Amino acid sequence: MIVIAHVSDVHIDGEERATDRTRAVLRYLEELPYDLSAVLVTGDVADHGTPDEYAVARKLLTSRHPLLVCPGNHDDRAAFRKALLPEETPALPYAPVNQVLRGEGFVVALCDSSVPGEHQGLLEDETLEWLDAVLADTPHELPVLVAFHHPPVPLHTPYVDEIRQFGEERLAALADRHPHLTAFLAGHAHTAAATTFAGRPLLVAPGVVSALRLPWENPGPDSPHVHLDLPPALAFHVLGDDGRLTTHYRTVTV
Ligand SMILES: [Fe+2]
Ligand SMILES: [Fe+2]
Repeated sequence: MIVIAHVSDVHIDGEERATDRTRAVLRYLEELPYDLSAVLVTGDVADHGTPDEYAVARKLLTSRHPLLVCPGNHDDRAAFRKALLPEETPALPYAPVNQVLRGEGFVVALCDSSVPGEHQGLLEDETLEWLDAVLADTPHELPVLVAFHHPPVPLHTPYVDEIRQFGEERLAALADRHPHLTAFLAGHAHTAAATTFAGRPLLVAPGVVSALRLPWENPGPDSPHVHLDLPPALAFHVLGDDGRLTTHYRTVTV
C-alpha cells in the first residue's frame, strides 16, 4: 500500500501561527507508526519567498519521510531552489521547478504552475513538454499522480477562481494521450476539495495556515476571505495494489 501525505500552503512568514501549525502537522506525520511513501507539499511554502522564510520552512518540513515540494504563487523560484533543492543547479534560476519521484509502484510528477510576479497559474510549454516525457517514459501499469499548486478548474470559490491555473486545455489534451495519468493533486485554494479534470479526480489539499471562507459560509460582502479559527488539515492519498486511488482528509490539533 502506497500512502502519500499531502500538505499545502504553509505560508511560513516569521509569525508564530504559520510556524506552530506547520510544526504540528509535521509532528503528527513524524509520529505515525508507518513509513509514508512521501510527504508532498504543493506550494505557498514561504509567504514572501525570502531566504529566511525558506530556512525555517526547510527545517519544519524535514521529517523521516521523503519530502517532495513545489512552488506556489507566494514562492520565489530562485530562493526556493537554493534552500529546498540545493543539489539542483539549473542554467536559469528562474526556470520552472519540475521534479519527478519514481517510487516503488508509483510515480509523482510535480509541476511548477507558478508564474513569476503573478498570482494566477500556468504550466509553461517547457513544463508540459517535461510532463509529456515523464508520462511517456513510465510503463502504463504504473499510476502517475500529477501535482501542482494551482487547480486548473474553478472550485466555486470566487476569490481563488480568479487566480486559478489557466491554459488548462493544453494539460487536458496531454492527459488524453496518457491513460496511466491517475489523478491531479493541487493546493492554493486553502480548502479540502474534490472534483474532476480531464476525466480524472482532482484532489485539493486544505491549507495549513488558514482555511478559505466558502461563499455559503460568508455572513456578508465585506467578510474576510479566510477562516482563521479552523484547525490545520492535510490529505492522505492511498494507492492500493489495484492502482485505485483513495483520499482521506485529516485535521490536526495544534
Ligand atoms: Fe496559499
Ligand atoms: Fe497560492
